[in-house]
Amino acid sequence: MLQLPDILDARDRVRETSRHTPLEYSHTYSSMTGADVRLKLENVQRTGSFKIRGATNRIATLSADEKEAGVVTASAGNHAQGVALAATRAGVDSKIVMPEHAPISKVKATRNYGAEVVLEGTDYSQAADRAHGLEREENRTYLHAFDDPDVMAGQGTIGLEILEDEPGVDTIVVPIGGGGLISGVATAVKERNPDARVIGVQAAGASSAAPSLDKGERVSLDGVDTIADGIATRSLGEGTFPIIRERVDEVVTVSDPEVAVAIIYLLERSKTVVEGAGAVSLAALLFEKFDYEADETIVPILSGGNVDLNTLTNVIVRGLVETGRYLKIRTVLKDQPGALESLLAILTAHRANIYAIHHDRTSRDVEMNDTEVEIELEMRGSDHVEQFLEDLRDEGYDVDVLA
Ligand SMILES: Cc1ncc(COP(=O)(O)O)c(C=O)c1O
Repeated sequence: MLQLPDILDARDRVRETSRHTPLEYSHTYSSMTGADVRLKLENVQRTGSFKIRGATNRIATLSADEKEAGVVTASAGNHAQGVALAATRAGVDSKIVMPEHAPISKVKATRNYGAEVVLEGTDYSQAADRAHGLEREENRTYLHAFDDPDVMAGQGTIGLEILEDEPGVDTIVVPIGGGGLISGVATAVKERNPDARVIGVQAAGASSAAPSLDKGERVSLDGVDTIADGIATRSLGEGTFPIIRERVDEVVTVSDPEVAVAIIYLLERSKTVVEGAGAVSLAALLFEKFDYEADETIVPILSGGNVDLNTLTNVIVRGLVETGRYLKIRTVLKDQPGALESLLAILTAHRANIYAIHHDRTSRDVEMNDTEVEIELEMRGSDHVEQFLEDLRDEGYDVDVLA
């Protein structure tokens, strides 16, 4: 099983390609939670996530012949970019297989880091089949995204950095996909400072760790569904599961709306761009998914910042809905002059700002002499929304909240 010396060895190798990322005290989250919150900013790591660490360490351990033959992997995400840059820096040829529908931004970034991108299949498993084909045909080494001790050791260097920068850390909160990141971090932390807690976080729509730990064996989900695409993994690895069982204190889950709120807070308050997978750790803290003492030093690892702009737009809207800053309602008015004006008077009284309004007298959902109105509003928070809806209903409007 992975041990601390593996991670100490990795540290020297990983220094060549990756940054010792900042550990930043957050006044905002400390005052919100009563804890002493320090954010580990792996979103500003080279390639935008921690993956460069594991890939660098794995490539450094290849023999001269293996380096000559090159590496291959399948990934549409952060692992692709990490492997591409790590290989290029080591002078090793890399091929990355991505599903055909992979976002063009990820394809371009991976190419820019020096990899040859092969587009194949409609999903990850077809891409992985092709990558294993290339492994055999071209004698390349397949770089697994998490289930490889050298990869885990590379990711574990984050744990060493946290302990170095904040030796008194009480709790480290770590996203879990396949479990490579948390296996490395937990190994470093538990051997150096056994009193520190390591808490794993999964998205509720991709949560295989908790049932696996309950059952005592790896559970594989039939499907996954979450905005945190970096951790949308069906199961833990064969190698990561026993490490998680032995060294991780607790595993919790967060919902997509909770992740969206964490992303919004990070953008608005911390001026920090973090992808869904990178925000689950802060979401778990903000939504009190685990217990902690006042003044406890808590480090959520913000593991990546590679979020595509369309996804970010959706997440922002979801986050605004969750925090009561965006409201979409539908109601029915009499189709007569002044009906809309009376409704708008209530909006004005509440200072609810209109983004968009749709007035439809042809809707089949309403009576002939009625008209349907859908309004999108900018609001000031959940209390504002509640008060506004209460007044509308008191005035006799039948209101559906659409978002
Ligand atoms: C941003 C981000 N966070 C967390 C993870 C989870 O890492 P692991 O699969 O090693 O658990 C990933 C994996 O791709 C990731 O991209």
